Amino acid sequence: MLRSNLNRSYRSRVRDPERALVESRRSAMQGLDYAVKKTTIVIVILMLVTTALAVYADDTGNEPRSGSAVYRTYCVSCHETGSQGAPISNDRNDWEPRLSKGPDALLIAARSGLNDMPAGTCSDCSDVELKAAIREMTKF
Ligand code: HEC
Repeated sequence: MLRSNLNRSYRSRVRDPERALVESRRSAMQGLDYAVKKTTIVIVILMLVTTALAVYADDTGNEPRSGSAVYRTYCVSCHETGSQGAPISNDRNDWEPRLSKGPDALLIAARSGLNDMPAGTCSDCSDVELKAAIREMTKF
């Protein structure tokens, strides 16, 4: 079957070179068509993998940072030494009068600023992260 096809194609080429040219072009186009389909499938798979990775990365990015990580990154510069009148981290005398305001008031101050504490010392912190940082400074 294969051999007779080959023979026929060979014979037709010899007999009709123009048709042979058309046939070889057609088969080249089919090859190209196949390559395009294969590339498309590979691209679609890559896109799916990239999307899955992005979703995964986003999930892990939503994990709240610990209070000590937030404190050490965003709050330590003032609250470690009490610079600019900041209540010193874990100094009971500095913090006790403020704690009586309640956790929500402290959170609002940490987010919006208060006197010499500017707003947005950690503008990308969630409420959970800011509260954890405040707890980190008041662990006495
Ligand atoms: C630029 C210095 C500075 C940085 C940075 C800073 N603070 Fe403060 N913070 C202050 C000062 C000054 C005060 C005292 C404000 C006052 O009572 O007049 C204060 C007070 C506070 C209070 C008490 C608010 C109240 O109502 O009594 C909280 C809570 C607080 N800071 C949380 C934070 C947290 C959380 C961070 C880090 C995300 C942070 N601060 C970063 C300067 C700073």
